[in-house]
Amino acid sequence: MPNDTAKLNIKNIAKDAEFAVLQGTQGPDVIDVTNLYKDTGVFTYDPGFMSTASCESKITYIDGEKGILRYRGYDIEELAQKSSFLEVSYLLLYGDLPNAKKYKEFSRKITEHTMVHEQLQFLYRGYPRQAHPMAIMSGAFSSMSAFYHDSIDIDDADQRELAAHRMIAKVPTLAAMAYKYAIGHPFVYPNNKLGFSENFLHMMFSVPAEEYKVSPVLAKAMDLIFLLHADHEQNASTSTVRLAGSSGANPFACISAGIASLWGPAHGGANEAVIDMLEEIGDVKNIPTFIEKAKSKKDPFRLMGFGHRVYKNYDPRAAVLRKAAHDVLKELGQENNPLLKIAVKLEEIALTDEYFVARKLYPNVDFYSGIIYKAMGIPSSLYTVLFAIARTAGWVAQWKEMMEDPSQKIGRPRQLYTGAKKRKYVAIKKRK
Ligand code: ACO
Repeated sequence: MPNDTAKLNIKNIAKDAEFAVLQGTQGPDVIDVTNLYKDTGVFTYDPGFMSTASCESKITYIDGEKGILRYRGYDIEELAQKSSFLEVSYLLLYGDLPNAKKYKEFSRKITEHTMVHEQLQFLYRGYPRQAHPMAIMSGAFSSMSAFYHDSIDIDDADQRELAAHRMIAKVPTLAAMAYKYAIGHPFVYPNNKLGFSENFLHMMFSVPAEEYKVSPVLAKAMDLIFLLHADHEQNASTSTVRLAGSSGANPFACISAGIASLWGPAHGGANEAVIDMLEEIGDVKNIPTFIEKAKSKKDPFRLMGFGHRVYKNYDPRAAVLRKAAHDVLKELGQENNPLLKIAVKLEEIALTDEYFVARKLYPNVDFYSGIIYKAMGIPSSLYTVLFAIARTAGWVAQWKEMMEDPSQKIGRPRQLYTGAKKRKYVAIKKRK
């Protein structure tokens, strides 16, 4: 609702332009510039959306200064402690935590859709074994629109719902298949007696020839990581999903676009960089050298997994994962794993070093998730895939919210054109 107005005086434009200032329930007010071009003939310019709210949303709230992350009004710390990934997926999709009956029903629906069309395995078999799993994930998601014709009519609410459930349910199966394919193991079908994260670990690590029991500590840690990564408001991949969806593209294609965006190292790839860095450090005795490198203005090296663009206070997700990382290491008897020893020592030193303290450079979520994945024996090429499993819930919720918004329009940014003005065409023979 308009709270105030903002006036803009532009040279050479006769009258001041006036805009409504909109107030959300929390967070900075926004100036509604929808009519700016119509009223004044100018555009705004904001590469990287540094000051632009791209949509209205009721799903996730972040206050980076205070280190707050909330899904639908619930603090992430409380959800991490008391809830589960599947319950949080329901919360993101429908706005409220489910009661016991609704949760049972939702779990049943998700469980019903864990298998993927048998023919999809031929798509996998067309890839080279060394293909990056994110390439397979993006392809497999897009391909689902070719298999599930009964859930691609975006104007039908039931079909949208079915697509949402299918995507949340099938993404762990697709991810585990990508892993199994890479290592040459047979695909493992989902076991619907298991919970969401337990089932994922089962599909990842069990083999037909052996008995496999999922460790409850690892399943809990996995579920926690999924819960913490489930949504993060209008980040690059979520904005990509919304932009793709704004044209009316089918939901599977939209999430495939989100996966492509997440793949970039500036977004979903940082936890892989953490492990690369720890391997480069190689030994606890080398940590001081790397700390000095990170502090040196002459050296471009940065401590991977430290600092965050939005969180200038402790990343609330990292605080939760820190404890989980220590629990997992203990459960796996890996407290003495050399790489993990380096991580623990690095964290200890950086948290007390004046340079990092003064700049509020705390470990971020990627620092600890990488360590947990490494301890679990998950290869680093799969880290971003795990992020995609979790974020599918957020992408789907954001896509659903957009589709249900009657004011939704195709996303079509404008530009500041700095290319050539009108030129005369010269025949090829006469060109110099
Ligand atoms: N190591 C050493 N110094 C750092 C680091 C770091 N990881 N991060 C920031 N700094 C220093 C900068 O040199 C700068 O110092 P100065 O003020 O003396 O010039 C100061 O801290 C502020 O840094 P900026 O680059 O301005 O901070 P910004 O918010 O732009 O960057 C970013 C955030 C990109 C995450 C940065 O901290 C970084 O590169 N971290 C390492 C990569 C990483 O872990 N990325 C994952 C982010 S979490 C996620 O995406 C889910």
